[in-house]
Amino acid sequence: MQNWQKETVLYQIYPKSFCDSNGDGIGDIPGIISKVPYLKSLGVNAVWLSPCYPSPNDDNGYDISDYRGIAPEYGTLEDFKKLLDALHENGIRLLMDLVVNHTSDEHAWFRSARRGRDDPYRDYYIWRDPVDGREPTDWRAAFGGSVWEFDEATGQYYFHLFSKKQPDLNWDNPKVRREIADMVNYWLDMGVDGFRCDVINNISKDLENGILGMGPHQHEYLHELYERAFGPHGALTIGETWGLTPEQTLAMTGEARGELTATFQFEHILLGRVGGDKFRKCELDRKAFTDILAKWEYGLKDDGYPVLVMENHDQPRALSRFGDEEYPFESATMLAVLLYGMRGIAVIYEGQELGLSNPRFEKLSDYRDIETLNAYRDLKNDFDEKALLKMMNFGSRDNSRVPMPWDGSEHAGFTAGTPWIEAGFDPKRTVAAEDADGGSVLNFYRRLFALRQSDAVLLHGGFELLENKNGTVLYSRKKDGETRYIAVRYANTPAPLPARLPRNAECILCNYASAASDSLRPYEARICKA
Ligand code: GLC
Ligand code: CA
Repeated sequence: MQNWQKETVLYQIYPKSFCDSNGDGIGDIPGIISKVPYLKSLGVNAVWLSPCYPSPNDDNGYDISDYRGIAPEYGTLEDFKKLLDALHENGIRLLMDLVVNHTSDEHAWFRSARRGRDDPYRDYYIWRDPVDGREPTDWRAAFGGSVWEFDEATGQYYFHLFSKKQPDLNWDNPKVRREIADMVNYWLDMGVDGFRCDVINNISKDLENGILGMGPHQHEYLHELYERAFGPHGALTIGETWGLTPEQTLAMTGEARGELTATFQFEHILLGRVGGDKFRKCELDRKAFTDILAKWEYGLKDDGYPVLVMENHDQPRALSRFGDEEYPFESATMLAVLLYGMRGIAVIYEGQELGLSNPRFEKLSDYRDIETLNAYRDLKNDFDEKALLKMMNFGSRDNSRVPMPWDGSEHAGFTAGTPWIEAGFDPKRTVAAEDADGGSVLNFYRRLFALRQSDAVLLHGGFELLENKNGTVLYSRKKDGETRYIAVRYANTPAPLPARLPRNAECILCNYASAASDSLRPYEARICKA
């Protein structure tokens, strides 16, 4: 792993919701270009763009119909190249989203594949005959319904882990693997710096044995892609992998493996939900939140590199889930210190730096997300309207997909037209308002990233958890005889300073006006130097 990769602060942009330049209500690439100075001012050094390829948008671009193009609503390939240049000129790298577990059913490969059983593209996808006139198995797809969809014309079912408009590619077909590697090289040759790899642990399957991910050829296929594309370009690749253990992660990201640079782990993201069900809230175990992060710091310390994340386009806002909306500034900044004080690639999702909480959707018809709408449909017999709305307002992916609030003008300055999705915004929490306020979450994030990026101990030092009890967390980072202590209060009550924080340690960042206090105040966070 190269040094720049370890020092990455990656800002995720959801193109549809970031900035609309032409008033059609949809964010676009010229809009992103206009915000490069803002990204620079935040102190991030890489951007991950959620998919911006042509797509029928059944799943907002995670259903790609052309891997080598740019969606017309987002701009042209020329616009994309301009964005790449603008970012590079500002020292910001660009990661694209690599969605290769599946394509859109409107991709040319699939349109060809469904023409007949002898079609040369048939074997690009996964087909099965009916069993007793029905689906071959009763497996459920991620967005509801069966993983099997019947294709009338050819009399077979095709397999899809997500929506029926997202047929899974057959990675056991060497031609598929060649096409994907060529496509990856096409973007890397253009100057793209790497990829976030969508549900990448699902590419190898063994359907005969009911194995839908981490199949027998998982490592082989990733290694092949590395040899053909990622490796020669020195690309930064971050896998989206749900449910792996640290051991499995090392087997995919260890230095000698030649597979991926790193992977997201989401174990802490599952907390506060009944059985991991994203629409059912239960009390958050705050101690477990830190324990899980620490477990991954330790688990990947020798041959791996953690990815620090608490928000993305699939999750509600972190402040609403892990913070305290009664202490929006203190808890949002405390979470930032707790997470980004650790060793790893820091990933931040658009709007997180403003300390946004979930918006409040008032009716079902305001939601757009396929997962939300399907869940609503599946649950509506068991819950009344009010309860359902509450569940969706807690768990919907649309919570983080509403327009980025730029200023206090109509539609938050996101568009001059009618936004594709909207649920209101807080005029105090916009880029313009927070930019002008020295005490804002935004300006705290700027200080935090500036400190982190200039401090070798915070970037590369070893991690040790020293205390995690009764709402107080203390951990250290150590390198070349220097130590940083990160002390946070993850509670709405004050408490004495942790015993193992040296009393002479100098505070170099604090989310309260002064760190003079000899106790930790509600959600106080400090980084200290000793
Ligand atoms: C990933 C994406 C999510 C998408 C799914 C299918 O989990 O993050 O947004 O719906 O894959 O591509
Ligand atoms: Ca637009």
